[in-house]
Amino acid sequence: MVNIPQLLQQDAAQTSAWLDGYFDSLNTVSAQNLLAAMRYSAMNGGKRVRASLVLSGARLASSQQSDQPSSQPSDQPSSQQAYQPAHLAVAGAVEMLHAYSLIHDDLPAMDDAELRRGVASCHKAFDEATAILAGDALQTEAFSLLSAPGLMADARRQLDLCAVLAAASGVGGMAGGQMLDLQAETFALDLAETKIMQELKTGALIRASAVMGVIVGGGDAHMQNAVDKFASHLGLAFQIADDLLDYQADADQLGKPAGRDSEQGKASFVELLGLEEARQQADRLIAEACASLDMFGNAADGLRGLAQFVINRNH
Ligand code: IPE
Ligand code: IPE
Ligand code: MG
Ligand code: MG
Ligand code: MG
Repeated sequence: MVNIPQLLQQDAAQTSAWLDGYFDSLNTVSAQNLLAAMRYSAMNGGKRVRASLVLSGARLASSQQSDQPSSQPSDQPSSQQAYQPAHLAVAGAVEMLHAYSLIHDDLPAMDDAELRRGVASCHKAFDEATAILAGDALQTEAFSLLSAPGLMADARRQLDLCAVLAAASGVGGMAGGQMLDLQAETFALDLAETKIMQELKTGALIRASAVMGVIVGGGDAHMQNAVDKFASHLGLAFQIADDLLDYQADADQLGKPAGRDSEQGKASFVELLGLEEARQQADRLIAEACASLDMFGNAADGLRGLAQFVINRNH
């Protein structure tokens, strides 16, 4: 069985070390305070769930191409496939994109949050203008990484990586979802509208992470579709878990403000369904997510374990 806490820890450590090296390589820029703000927000912990989705998707894809039978568990990276630079670059790119979304999410014009990952949010540690620019630059660096010449032997796959991340981040993805989230503070959303908002603001990047893992790992369209289905259920469950934690945990545990969603009039499944029903909905979504991977046998245990982690996490 996959040891998920250990896998997450290993994936997180490798991704963070890779990002650290990447930021070092940018050290020649003149705007050192901007680089410091980017580093501050991308390197200050975080569960690195999206990185682990990339890496687990890549491991699944690699395991299907090797000579191993597909029932071989892909829980631990084998020495040959372990942490290839291209896999880590993709994991780093989604984490940079995610860090950008969190910096902007915390700004006074959005959720006005002073705490992130247990420390002052970017605009508090620096200032608002620097935080806006750090988000902008992290987003751009993500695409710079994915489009770097020679990242993969197959340039078509690199183009696919860029297209998937762009679609997940733009008006039809995270940014569009964030807009709906903010509008919902004024105009109440029903359950169907809330679901769309959650799928966009959070689900899109979760889906993109898993699918990009399959793409960089060399998986075919059939595997990309199955993993996309898995991650679309997972993404919704992820946001429900985040909303439950906002109601049930405190800021010390979360490393970010707690109890604000209700105060700010955020639309959420918890608000509309209540704690118990929202929790059950998340459990059902995780079961459905895992069922989408049946055809891959034990090779998908890493992704299944991540799905369980997402609803059982305490921060
Ligand atoms: C928080 O994401 C924002 C949401 C999309 C709900 P995470 O819970 O993955 O945050 P970190 O990266 O672990 O800090
Ligand atoms: C954030 O949702 C989604 C994105 C950053 C795209 P939340 O606003 O609920 O995230 P937290 O709770 O601040 O991490
Ligand atoms: Mg928000
Ligand atoms: Mg927020
Ligand atoms: Mg939240």
